[in-house]
Amino acid sequence: STPIILDCDPGHDDAMAILLAVGDPRVELKAVTTSAGNQTVEKTAMNARRMCSLARAFDVPVAAGYPKPLTGTLLIGDDVHGETGLDGWEFPEPEVPLQSAHAVDLIHDLLVDSPEPITLVVTGPQTNIAGLFARHPDDRARIKEIVCMGGATHRGNTTPYAEYNILVDPEAAHEVLASGVPITYCGLNVTHQAPVTSEVMQRILDVGTHISKVSASLLGFRSSTYDQIWDLPDAPLHDPVAIARVLDPTLVDCVEAPVSIELRGEFTRGATVVDLYGVTGRTPNAKVATHLDTERFWDVFMKALTALG
Ligand code: BDR
Ligand code: CA
Repeated sequence: STPIILDCDPGHDDAMAILLAVGDPRVELKAVTTSAGNQTVEKTAMNARRMCSLARAFDVPVAAGYPKPLTGTLLIGDDVHGETGLDGWEFPEPEVPLQSAHAVDLIHDLLVDSPEPITLVVTGPQTNIAGLFARHPDDRARIKEIVCMGGATHRGNTTPYAEYNILVDPEAAHEVLASGVPITYCGLNVTHQAPVTSEVMQRILDVGTHISKVSASLLGFRSSTYDQIWDLPDAPLHDPVAIARVLDPTLVDCVEAPVSIELRGEFTRGATVVDLYGVTGRTPNAKVATHLDTERFWDVFMKALTALG
């Protein structure tokens, strides 16, 4: 099974990514680290602890990272995820503790100690990974690949051209892309192929466990905010798509393409500029997801949920 570290900002879909990573034996979750994104880094770390406790992943260390992006102020996503970052369920005090180590130190130690390169799955702003590369440039060689939820081949969701995770910290995304570590972007164009329809909601409930009940309640909250903001009640389950790509690459088709992060655009800062047609003549520097096998994706998700018991 593939060793992974999940750097995330839970966040409802990040929370589902944690469940998928714990419940599917094809990945081995070595740690969950959190970024400032959907909510403050204190809250995203608390939510990661809540989800690891819910999934009874008591051996998975959870650590918090940087409190704000490399430049500028943090844009939280409370319009989608609420005041706690994970509204829609009243969680008990989490049993999984917060590590005293900074996320970057935890990731560094795990990379150095691992006999094989580790895959980083990044489903929030990329601040922690940029920080890791700045502090420990040699760690780049210890990473098998980075698979992120971020960007889009076409339009954004937080501004017309920028997707939230990239918009929050475009400089970090740029540094990570420039690091030379192989990177795959699962952007909005592919995550929107995983809408949480009423049928999907019913399948989650039909799993019939406490965890499935919590999941349905959380996703119900997010459907209502998506409906309010984007008129989209079948809210896409973005972040688990990045996990899916790692546990079975045939679930998510990708193409190689030249990608740049727009850092300056007056209207387009934070956009991922993806040259799908090779018109720039530049050498591809990333893999970009284009298609999700939606039916098998939901089967895999339900199976993982069921396995969690
Ligand atoms: C991304 O933004 C966040 O709100 C979600 O958790 C996801 O990672 C989608 O644009
Ligand atoms: Ca996220």
